[in-house]
Amino acid sequence: MTDALTADHARGAGEDSSRPAVRHFLKDSDLSPAEQAEVLDLAAALKAAPHSRTPLAHGDARETVAVIFDKTSTRTRFSFAAGIAELGGQALIVNPGESQIGHKESVEDTARILERTVSAIVWRTFGQAGLETMARFSRVPVVNALSDEFHPCQILADLLTVREEFGTTAGRTLAYIGDAANNMASSYALGGALAGMHVRLCGPQGYRPDPAVVEEAQRIAGETGGSVAVVDEPREAVSGADVVATDTWVSMGQEGQKSERAGAFEGFRVTEELMALARPEAVFLHCLPAYRGVEVDADVIDGSRSRVWDEAENRRHAQKALLVWLLQRAEASSSFVDRRPEVSA
Ligand code: CP
Repeated sequence: MTDALTADHARGAGEDSSRPAVRHFLKDSDLSPAEQAEVLDLAAALKAAPHSRTPLAHGDARETVAVIFDKTSTRTRFSFAAGIAELGGQALIVNPGESQIGHKESVEDTARILERTVSAIVWRTFGQAGLETMARFSRVPVVNALSDEFHPCQILADLLTVREEFGTTAGRTLAYIGDAANNMASSYALGGALAGMHVRLCGPQGYRPDPAVVEEAQRIAGETGGSVAVVDEPREAVSGADVVATDTWVSMGQEGQKSERAGAFEGFRVTEELMALARPEAVFLHCLPAYRGVEVDADVIDGSRSRVWDEAENRRHAQKALLVWLLQRAEASSSFVDRRPEVSA
């Protein structure tokens, strides 16, 4: 089933079915469980030896990766820029408001331009549909750097952090407390299920997970030995968990709902008292930016169980691994034009 999903997203430029498919990463389940494990293995190797792979370098020449932001960013921007440089390439960062995509020029036409100019397209945007269109018309890999629906690069970093902590993801329980309808919750469901984790999603009424995502995640979990459950009570959700995670209660674009959300999420803050119900060795994750005293208490995020700084660092390693993995497959599928300079022997 995940392979079928992969095939749906895989072929760029729509028309040419004679050519092997380009792989994209628009949502967590664009990787199969085995592929996700491959990327995480590579991420660990690249963390140990950051300059060991330079697929974007060709002598003195460097390939370019477009990194486009329709929304603001700190971690995603810096981790992709630094990671692409470590891979021997250069990141062309496009800040919010600087491009014509979607308002002066269609996503289709943008994809047609970019695929002739850059080696990969990393895009933080609003709706998932834009990413799907970009991927359909691009013969270079497209990566979701956060959409309203999913944040799959963040989950790769989180899974790497869990592996570092416990040696494995399979069989570990992750409790996500907060806005269980947001992109992080959806990506935890899918990505955690792929990794064989037991994922519990816990949010208040009105902020519960998308049933379609839960259904897909449960199908995946059926293959990997994991599980995905929707739990109403935070105390029940964190009971015996290995990982407790949360996210801001007000995601980008929801600023107008701040006071309404503050009321709705009462009782869903991650406190020391809540953490005490998790396993003694449990760790705390937050994709950041965090609001201390709102979704998490300062003594949790700044305490000994917090792994948020490792998690933030792991964005770079996980994304580098993902790019290496995607670029290898893009090279295998490329039959239309080789833009790269000759590599001298
Ligand atoms: N976690 C995350 O995506 O951070 P930024 O919004 O700073 O990129």
